Formats: sequence, C-alpha cells, structure tokens
Amino acid sequence: MAVSNIGMPDQATWENLFDIKKVFATLKLNGRIQEVVEFGCGYGTFTISAAEIISGTIHAIDSDPEMIRVTSEAVKKHQLENVEVIQRDFVLSGSGMKNLSMDYVMLFNVLNAENQNALFKDAKRVLKKWGYIGVVIWNGDPETPGALEMEAAPSPEQCRIWARAVGLSFELKCELKPYFYGMLFVKGNTLKWKDRQI
Ligand SMILES: C[S@@+](CC[C@H](N)C(=O)[O-])C[C@H]1O[C@@H](n2cnc3c(N)ncnc32)[C@H](O)[C@@H]1O
Repeated sequence: MAVSNIGMPDQATWENLFDIKKVFATLKLNGRIQEVVEFGCGYGTFTISAAEIISGTIHAIDSDPEMIRVTSEAVKKHQLENVEVIQRDFVLSGSGMKNLSMDYVMLFNVLNAENQNALFKDAKRVLKKWGYIGVVIWNGDPETPGALEMEAAPSPEQCRIWARAVGLSFELKCELKPYFYGMLFVKGNTLKWKDRQI
C-alpha cells in the first residue's frame, strides 16, 4: 500500500530538484549520526549521500522492486558497505527496525497521502532518545518540474499535529527552495534539553 501518490519524474529530473548538502546540513544529518532508517528510498537520491557522511548504517526501505533495484545498483557503484536495502511495505508491515535502535529517521517525500499517524508512531518507536525525524515535503508549487502528481502537499501545521500526536518535539522548519520545505522533530522533551547527548 503506497503512502505516496507522487508519480515520480525520471531520476535526473527528480535529483535536480534538491540541494542534498543543504538538505542534510539544515536537517542535521551529519557525521555524528550513526544508525539511520529511510522510509521510501526511491532512486536512492538521499541514501547514497547519507551513507557517505554518517558514521553507521543506513537502512533504506522501499516497496517498489524497481526502486530497490536502482538503489541497490547505486550502492554497488559507490562501493558502499553501510547500506542495507530492504524491500518492504512499511504501511502494511511497519519498518521492521528494533525499538530504540535508530539515531535518525528520514521521512523524505513520503508524507503526502495516508497513514501518517502510523508512520510517525513507528518512526518514534524505532528512535533512540533524542533521535531525530527529518521530514521533506513538497511545497505544492504547480511550476515544479517533472509533473508531480500529489493529491496534496501537507502543510507544516499538519505535520506538527502528526508529530505532536505521538509526543515528538518540534525543532525547526526550513525552506528548501524552490519546491520543498523541511522539518525536524526530536524524540524527547526539549524543555529538558540539557540532558541531550547528540
Ligand atoms: C516520492 S518517492 C521519495 C523517495 C525518496 N525518499 C526521495 O525523497 O528521493 C516515495 C517512495 O516511497 C516508496 N513508498 C511509498 N509507499 C511505500 C510503502 N508503503 N512502503 C514502502 N515504500 C513505499 C515509493 O515506492 C517511492 O519510491
């Protein structure tokens, strides 16, 4: 059951839409992060770059066999040994990651249809305390190249509601111009920030 109704454009068009370094810098995906799970890796657009900077393993999940093939080939081409590519439907079966095992959950371009509450719940479950959930969402600009076919681009307010419903703290919202925005949530009460390890 796909959570995304994006008719993804071809790989080159899609990858041209993002400044990956900027996305990672703004959403705090960096070398201090060890274990990462990516819900819906697609072409591996963010998977490969994430694997190159984190200090642990990225677990890249997708239900689409073609996306699994493309990402697996990219992993091979880049000779990366810290990527686990997993074919799985995370709406039907969850991510399958262990409780409290991840430092970072990537919800990049997968929050635009249904079951977001369940996604946030599973994301929180697998995160260690003070772990991050990074979110990237289309801003709905109809001029976006590649004819995205989203039924809706959820608002930052809606995203905060989903996150708050499972007890996550909001950390930041940023523009990822021209076509996307990002948000960062933390597992933990940011009023007790001084206890934080990462
Ligand atoms: C719009 S793409 C985004 C890919 C990647 N996160 C990015 O930003 O480049 C959404 C991806 O999520 C995958 N996906 C959608 N629903 C899924 C589900 N229920 N389980 C696993 N993967 C899913 C799709 O196959 C697609 O590759």
